[in-house]
Amino acid sequence: MKDYFSLICDRQSCRDYADRPIEKEILFKCVEAAGLAPSARNCQPWRFTIVNRPDLCKRIAACAQEEGFNQFTDHCPAFIVVQPEIGSATAEKWHRFDLGLAVMQLCLAAEDLGAATCIMGSIGEEHLVKTLGLSPDAPPVVVVAIGYAATPEHRPKIRKQAGDYVTYLG
Ligand SMILES: Cc1cc2nc3c(=O)[nH]c(=O)nc-3n(C[C@H](O)[C@H](O)[C@H](O)COP(=O)(O)O)c2cc1C
Repeated sequence: MKDYFSLICDRQSCRDYADRPIEKEILFKCVEAAGLAPSARNCQPWRFTIVNRPDLCKRIAACAQEEGFNQFTDHCPAFIVVQPEIGSATAEKWHRFDLGLAVMQLCLAAEDLGAATCIMGSIGEEHLVKTLGLSPDAPPVVVVAIGYAATPEHRPKIRKQAGDYVTYLG
C-alpha cells in the first residue's frame, strides 16, 4: 500500500490504456471511495454511472471526442460519468466543489488499486445525455476514463512552486 504522498505524486492522467478490461469490483471500490468524500452539509450531491460494456464505451468515446480532444478514449476499457444530484439549494451552490472532492478520491483510490484514470471535462455533454438517457436537468460535469495504464512510466509533474501560489502570514 502506498503512503499518501506517493499516491498523490504517482497519480497522473492516463491517456494510453492497456488492452485489458477492468474488473467491476475495482470500479465499485473507486466509486465507494468517491462516496466517502466530504460535501457541504453532507448532501453527497453526486451520481456515478459506471460504463463497462465495450459497445457503450465506444459511444462514450465518441462523445468525449466531439470537441476534438480525447482521441485516446478509443482504447479505454471503462468510464465513470459524474453528474450532480440536483435537489437541495445547498447542493446546487456547492455541487461542483463537492463533485471535485469526490472525483479526486475516486482517482486516488484507482491509483491505490493499480488502475489509472483521466478526468475529462471535454465530454460532448448533450450527446452524452442522449446516449445514456440521463436527465438533462443534471448534465454530467466530468467523465473519468479508467483502466490499466499501458506503461508503468511516471511523467515528471509540471507544477507551479508553492512560492508562486502561497501567501504565508507567519
Ligand atoms: C476538470 C478537469 C477537466 C479535464 N479535462 C480533460 C480532458 O478533457 N482531456 C484530457 O486529456 N485531460 C483532461 N484533464 C486532465 C488535465 O489535463 C490534467 O489533470 C493536468 O494536465 C495535470 O496533469 P496530471 O493529471 O497528469 O497530473 C482534466 C482535468 C480536470 C481536473
